[in-house]
Amino acid sequence: MNPFSPANPKDRIIFALDVDHFHEAQHWVTLLKDRVGLFKVGKQLFTHSGPKVIDMIAQKGQRVFLDLKYHDIPNTVAKAGEEATKHRVTMFNLHALGGFEMMKKTVEASRAVAKTLGISRPIILAVTILTSMDEENLKEVGIQGPLMEEVACLASLAQKAGMDGVVASPKEIGIIRERCGEKFLIVTPGIRHPTDKKDDQKRTLTPKEAIEAGADYLVIGRPIKEAKDPIESVQKIVEDIS
Ligand code: C5P
Repeated sequence: MNPFSPANPKDRIIFALDVDHFHEAQHWVTLLKDRVGLFKVGKQLFTHSGPKVIDMIAQKGQRVFLDLKYHDIPNTVAKAGEEATKHRVTMFNLHALGGFEMMKKTVEASRAVAKTLGISRPIILAVTILTSMDEENLKEVGIQGPLMEEVACLASLAQKAGMDGVVASPKEIGIIRERCGEKFLIVTPGIRHPTDKKDDQKRTLTPKEAIEAGADYLVIGRPIKEAKDPIESVQKIVEDIS
């Protein structure tokens, strides 16, 4: 069993704070506090509000997944990783396409900073191929595919570089588990109940299906945010994966 994989079902839920104002983020954290495992802060909210949004979530005793998907030369990403570690986020991520050295240096830098602070280092996840890319789009940027093979290759590279896991679409869970084993974390968005609106998600699984397929964490935004009763929606998800 992966030591990072949560035992408590509610801790597997990562709520996507896809909002554009600090006060809105505050509203959702207050409402869902202790009902989900982590709050995901992405590029929009972070660019709008900056690190104070991380502090606000921490002050409410909640954990943060900083979803900034770093991708740059190794030194630059390692330095960004140090800063994320200093903010004491629970998870952050980077693009596996940044390469082995970038990933390895970032883990080492984060570990060193965490040691100095006397804390455990954040879980560091790799994004393989963005789920918005299909095989045709990959060819346009000079990657010949097949897509699933690229995903598996990048997940293996990430694991060799010391990453704790990957962010993967429901469809990719199987091949990643096969190549990277049980101890590699898989964080999966694209979660919908059969009665939910699909929005822009094309390949969805229910919370239960995703956990059964091997996901450790589920990233969920709109099915909770746009529900008539968001708390009831979270409870339904927790029941589904319990
Ligand atoms: O609202 P919804 O549940 O679709 O939100 C899913 C979250 O996961 C969003 O923040 C989205 O950016 C993120 N995500 C995704 N697909 C990926 C990677 C991240 O939907 N491949």
